[in-house]
Amino acid sequence: MITSYEQFVPIVMGCGSMLRTGLKVRELGCKKVLVTHGKNLKKTGYVDILVENLESAGIKAVCFDGVQPDPPDTMVEEAAEFARKEKIDGIVAIGGGSSMDTAKAINVLINNEPPIIQYLGVQKNLNPGVPLICIPTTSGTGSEVTTMTVITCTSLNKKDSVLSPVCLPTLAILDPELTLGLSPRMTAITALDALAHAVESLTGGQANPLSDALAREAIRLIAKWLPVAYNDGSNIKARENLMYASTFAGMAFTNALVHIGHSIAHVLGAQFDIPHGMACAIAMPEVIEYAAKTETEKVKMICECFGIEIDENADYEIIGATAKKTLRTFIKSVGIPNLKELGISLEDTLNIAPLVTQDSGFAIAPYRITASKVAEMLKSAYDA
Ligand SMILES: [Fe+2]
Repeated sequence: MITSYEQFVPIVMGCGSMLRTGLKVRELGCKKVLVTHGKNLKKTGYVDILVENLESAGIKAVCFDGVQPDPPDTMVEEAAEFARKEKIDGIVAIGGGSSMDTAKAINVLINNEPPIIQYLGVQKNLNPGVPLICIPTTSGTGSEVTTMTVITCTSLNKKDSVLSPVCLPTLAILDPELTLGLSPRMTAITALDALAHAVESLTGGQANPLSDALAREAIRLIAKWLPVAYNDGSNIKARENLMYASTFAGMAFTNALVHIGHSIAHVLGAQFDIPHGMACAIAMPEVIEYAAKTETEKVKMICECFGIEIDENADYEIIGATAKKTLRTFIKSVGIPNLKELGISLEDTLNIAPLVTQDSGFAIAPYRITASKVAEMLKSAYDA
């Protein structure tokens, strides 16, 4: 079998690497860039440092500071209009997933007509955009190395993705110092999103040797370093390893995709306003236990990444149950509540099961499961 691995992004990694941005943007031939960020990030001073760095390299910078969480299509179109009017020839995104996803959607609309929602799904023939540089300030989404952007369709009140080479960043700049200010809660939520990307890409239908290697290392790093960063946010070694982990997990899932865990998380997020990484974490132990039936060796690997030895005669049920217990214990240890603790009723929880099977990601899930099986998983996760 011939496999092509084409979706990889050049990376500059290390403490202080944000200060290489101006130089790198100049090397890419850009003269005037749009910087996308949210209003809160401005308060940290990082945006001013970045703009100064770009300007000292001779690059003009205009800012779009209106990035909103779960980027709405209307906001993206307004930003793209601004970018076209300013005649920018590059985009620099700084922030979490929302800032990077906004930048990607703007890039789609630079040389393709709005509205953005006409490009949802896999797009192979979009006109190319401009060089896109991503500087994450969280370790979770992996958006800095993926081909997709997640957009909220305001008319449908639903999140969906555009998948296109135009969304693949030209360069990722990974500066762990930018994550030092993250609270323990944000550290856990974002890292667990990365863990979900890794365990789902490892157990999905499109897993391949390269994505497996990246996913395994991401799991190993998160198992080791999330508890350290959660308890001591100033530990730069932990911050650096979590940044590697989220990037490895992003590289794994952009090549091998995610599955049911993310479908459940999308619906939990939309219905009950649960942060994405938290919703992924709530679903994860159940989904991985289920995956053990067909992906027994992969689920065994997940246990081993957490330092759990599995008897070589263990069957898939034992392996699945061990993985579920290990993941649930880990998730609870970094303060993630269950659905009951979040104040959601069991009835409301079970009612979302049919919606999960309608999620666009569900169609590409390797497992054909029924709404009643999803309900069973939700019931088991409810007060676990
Ligand atoms: Fe995710």
